[in-house]
Amino acid sequence: MYPLCTVNMLTSCLLITVLLIKTTHCGNVKPQKESELPDYNVYHNMSQIQLVLLKLTNRAPGYIQMISSFVSREGRPQLLLRITNFTNNQLQPSYNTDPSRDKVKILLSYGEHAREFFPIESLIYLVGNLTGGLKTDASPMAREFSQLILSNIDLFIVAMMNPDGRVYVERTGNYCWRGTVTGVDLNRNFDWNFGKHGSSGNPKDEEFRGPRAFSEPECNILRNLTASFSFDAFVSLHSGIRQIYVPFADSLSKQTRRKPENLDSMLDVAQKMARATGKKFTYGLAYYLNDYPADGTIFDYMAGVRKIPFSFAIELWGDLKKHPICFDLFNPSNENLQTEVKQVHPIYEVLFLYLIKWKQQQAASSAGRQKDRPPSHAFRYTVLVCVSLLVLYQVLHNRRSLSFWLRRRRRVIRVHSLGSMFSNMKT
Ligand SMILES: *[C@@H]1O[C@H](CO)[C@@H](O)[C@H](O)[C@H]1NC(C)=O
Ligand SMILES: *[C@@H]1O[C@H](CO)[C@@H](O)[C@H](O)[C@H]1NC(C)=O
Ligand SMILES: *[C@@H]1O[C@H](CO)[C@@H](O)[C@H](O)[C@H]1NC(C)=O
Ligand SMILES: *[C@@H]1O[C@H](CO)[C@@H](O)[C@H](O)[C@H]1NC(C)=O
Ligand SMILES: [Zn+2]
Repeated sequence: MYPLCTVNMLTSCLLITVLLIKTTHCGNVKPQKESELPDYNVYHNMSQIQLVLLKLTNRAPGYIQMISSFVSREGRPQLLLRITNFTNNQLQPSYNTDPSRDKVKILLSYGEHAREFFPIESLIYLVGNLTGGLKTDASPMAREFSQLILSNIDLFIVAMMNPDGRVYVERTGNYCWRGTVTGVDLNRNFDWNFGKHGSSGNPKDEEFRGPRAFSEPECNILRNLTASFSFDAFVSLHSGIRQIYVPFADSLSKQTRRKPENLDSMLDVAQKMARATGKKFTYGLAYYLNDYPADGTIFDYMAGVRKIPFSFAIELWGDLKKHPICFDLFNPSNENLQTEVKQVHPIYEVLFLYLIKWKQQQAASSAGRQKDRPPSHAFRYTVLVCVSLLVLYQVLHNRRSLSFWLRRRRRVIRVHSLGSMFSNMKT
């Protein structure tokens, strides 16, 4: 009982609690005797994930591109998908063009942690849903949903951040493995408060941060994409519990009570997502929600460094089982997989619809500001050309020689300084 604890007892109580939280939350990277194993006729294994995404891509040419140029340490593709109506705005079907400035740009990241199979299954369902609405026999509602999403959102998906880790899990049967094939936790390897105590310097620890920020080649894809495009939203998808985190999670932010710029709107959409499924999700600022800090996380980096207005880490699934081992700590049983996958789908729907509305409001308010802006360059040059033509007309009309005008220098200087005044005006 708490009041009976002496100071010494209290300290050991605390220590034991911390240890318990640590082990129950994180599991162990060592293999355990599992009580439940994935059936690969239900769950997709690595090669099936690749195949099914390729099949869905081929089902919807003009709407999905699969880009295989980003690879892991061992050279496996990280399966980047870009999903949008490419016919709108003459979008180039290539990842490095950005003509779709008015669409909501969303980046989703899956498979950072090798043992978390569930989020990728929910992604396969999502892509099946979007392409399903394009079929000729789709219901009017399904068609309308796909049209709405594809014409308003430019969706980038990293389907498999850590393919080597995933293959390692499948090959060894160690369903406790979290990191890359070299044991680095990618979600501690990003350059945001990197190397502090909310991660580990021990290569045997499952929260091993790696030798330095961005030491892992797998990080390149997210760094590269966020350098090339300005995203409105980023989401890192996980499982193990039902929780929605808003930045920040790192130890320094916890200590200084630092908050992200767009906190209120993020909490607003987090609340809507948390209520979308009929299951109990908790949500909030990560350092309030978590009893442990996490340094070098991807979603903190996206909010803090890349300044993406909406950044989340979503833990899509968890179960309060008495003795979960590893596979069943992070993933539903084979029988329940399809039900659970359908159940989390509204989270995407709520997020997408919220962001479409948000983007339209942004566009409307910036159009409002546009009206009060100083005249544009084009307008100034038009004025300049008109003035010049008028002057020229005067010259010709009065049939005065050019030397006459050159002699009247004051006039010439006035025209010249008019020009420089225009070109010096800043927008
Ligand atoms: C993946 O699963 C399928 C279907 O169960 C199986 O045929 C295939 O051999 C598996 N691939 C690997 C690499 O395990
Ligand atoms: C996709 O999901 C939306 C929203 O939940 C739903 O209205 C639509 O019918 C689904 N489409 C298909 C093809 O299942
Ligand atoms: C995609 O865009 C084209 C051109 O704007 C349009 O004709 C087509 O209906 C759109 N497709 C969907 C599914 O909305
Ligand atoms: C990263 O982005 C640059 C352009 O910003 C591109 O030239 C380069 O090829 C990209 N890297 C990879 C691995 O695709
Ligand atoms: Zn995770």
